[in-house]
Amino acid sequence: MSNVFNPKSEIFKNPAFGSMEEYKNLVEKFDTDYEGTWASFADEKIDWFSKYDTVLDESNAPFYKWFEGGKLNVANQCVDRHLATKSNQTAILFEADNGESEHITYGELAIRVNKTANMFKNEYGISKGDRVVIYMPMIPQAAVSMLACAKIGAIHSIVFGGFSSEALRDRIIDAQAKLVVTADGAYRKGKPYMLKPVVDKALESGCECIKNVCVVKRNNEDITWVEGRDTDYATMFENQSEEFAAEPMDSEDPLFLLYTSGSTGKPKGVQHSTAGYILWAQMTMEWVFDVKSEDTYWCTADIGWITGHTYIVYGPLAAGATTVMFEGVPTYPDAGRCWKMVEKYKINQFYTAPTAIRLLHKMGEDEPGKYDLSSLRILGTVGEPIDPPAWKWYYEEVGNSNCSIVDTYWQTETGGHMISPLPAATPIKPACATFALPGIVAEIIEADGSAVQTGEKGFLCITKPWPSMIRTIWNDDERFIKSYFGDCKKDGKPVYFSGDGAMMDEEGYITITGRTDDVINVSGHRIGTAEIEASVKKCEAIAANAVVGKPHEIKGEGIFAYVVLKDPDSISKEDLIKEINKILKADIGAIALCDDIAIVPDVPKTRSGKIMRRILRSIAKGEEITQDTSTLEDPSIVGVIENIVKG
Ligand code: WT7
Repeated sequence: MSNVFNPKSEIFKNPAFGSMEEYKNLVEKFDTDYEGTWASFADEKIDWFSKYDTVLDESNAPFYKWFEGGKLNVANQCVDRHLATKSNQTAILFEADNGESEHITYGELAIRVNKTANMFKNEYGISKGDRVVIYMPMIPQAAVSMLACAKIGAIHSIVFGGFSSEALRDRIIDAQAKLVVTADGAYRKGKPYMLKPVVDKALESGCECIKNVCVVKRNNEDITWVEGRDTDYATMFENQSEEFAAEPMDSEDPLFLLYTSGSTGKPKGVQHSTAGYILWAQMTMEWVFDVKSEDTYWCTADIGWITGHTYIVYGPLAAGATTVMFEGVPTYPDAGRCWKMVEKYKINQFYTAPTAIRLLHKMGEDEPGKYDLSSLRILGTVGEPIDPPAWKWYYEEVGNSNCSIVDTYWQTETGGHMISPLPAATPIKPACATFALPGIVAEIIEADGSAVQTGEKGFLCITKPWPSMIRTIWNDDERFIKSYFGDCKKDGKPVYFSGDGAMMDEEGYITITGRTDDVINVSGHRIGTAEIEASVKKCEAIAANAVVGKPHEIKGEGIFAYVVLKDPDSISKEDLIKEINKILKADIGAIALCDDIAIVPDVPKTRSGKIMRRILRSIAKGEEITQDTSTLEDPSIVGVIENIVKG
């Protein structure tokens, strides 16, 4: 396998970028006139109710403002404005766990969004600026609820359905939400699973802000019903009007909050804007996925993550494509499910995570060959660095060496793609995110802004504000500044630091090397070590603990905990893992379980008491310790721990 793969130009018709020449021209245009170039895209792409006055306001950095004075509505941008030309085109193509499908046209979607917006407004008193928590399975009502919030101007906060009642409660309270939209449950692997009981439990304490729970009956399993609080979605929905006048929103009004992990125990409510967010969601759909209105596009993410927001709902609908929503899992009834769906719906773009690719490779190496996958043009990956063997299988077996792979690097905070190949233009290298997209100024630097050598690791920063960037952390401006603008400077000015390391090769290709902070990436899910440690600490037998990521065959990274027991012989390792995971499941959810632990006499701390996680990471990986251990309170502990881990 040679190292560079040129796009097969014959599979693309009218791509946004047909060559690197075109890419470079636009980069240059942004270079010469940054604001003007952004403005030209905003003018072309957005259906403004009234036009903005300024493009970018940097006067209160890092609280950047884009397209101030403009009025628009994201539900209009994603649905209503398409009605004249696409009312009979499928907007959402839903495939249930059991394989049944439902085609929802743009016309039908508009009606459902309006009825739901009326329901939220009339039945629950939701109005502009109110927060609505959505705790839903992957069913069309989830997307409809998002768009209904957007239509009203309410701010949604989706909580991933795998999060526990504690995690849900914390997010409800932080956002001071008025309404929870949920479902009794849904289906996974042929069996019903439940969500409503988790909501009930979350609301037992401290969620006085919640006035109502709106419940979609999906699996019709038994649930408890709190009279006066709980209401049935279908009943409420039925008699609503099919008309709803979209709220004219300011460009900078918040569109949604999405909680993500940081390096402290408390999740951060990442706040996104209206105009800048939807502009970039749509542009990247067109650039990176080459999406055309006749295309059927499938992203396997859950709507509870940013990928589901930008690249299942907002991006594809703003671009006027058909977006697939899938209730089930990729391995049921077998590891050919995804490929069967690609064949069935003639999917053109398929977007998933490296962890899923590794799993499907392992469980069904030959499955892709059993289906006609010739409709595919683009294969996407996101969430963590993809390893070369997984990349190769994806390219050769799924893509038949004919598709472009887009390794898209971005984050909850960036709103949309930052670094990615352009499918008809960029010669790709395996497991490499390649180049920053036009309009995005990504630099790999030292913390003081000095340049790093080619091939050396540095901090990945975005050194100019961009339209879809995080606006603040909900209710915590200070933490916003500290988290993203506190570590790196360029020309003396704080710049956005992603938390990731990266390096550039001689040809300017960027490879992401992973998080440099205390965040673990488990199956593409971001989990803060501090959050996990706080939970592990609740375990009766444990005196102290430190948690790190450890390479894992399928998950990318797994969770590895070093624990110090109060009484060394009080509990067996197996029982302790069970105890810890019980607590983690209740506190965070099943995505945050520990894979392994080491019972150690102490954890390495500096004289000021800070745990040296870097050393623990190296030990968990089985790497040689190269770090300076002289600042440790007790340097000899390193060898002791190493011996325990090696067994
Ligand atoms: C973190 C963001 C953005 C959607 C999914 C996760 C890692 C993301 C890549 C990639 C290497 C990647 C980074 C980033 N990441 N994409 N293509 N190559 N690493 O969103 O939960 O906000 O996590 O995921 O470490 O900081 P998120």
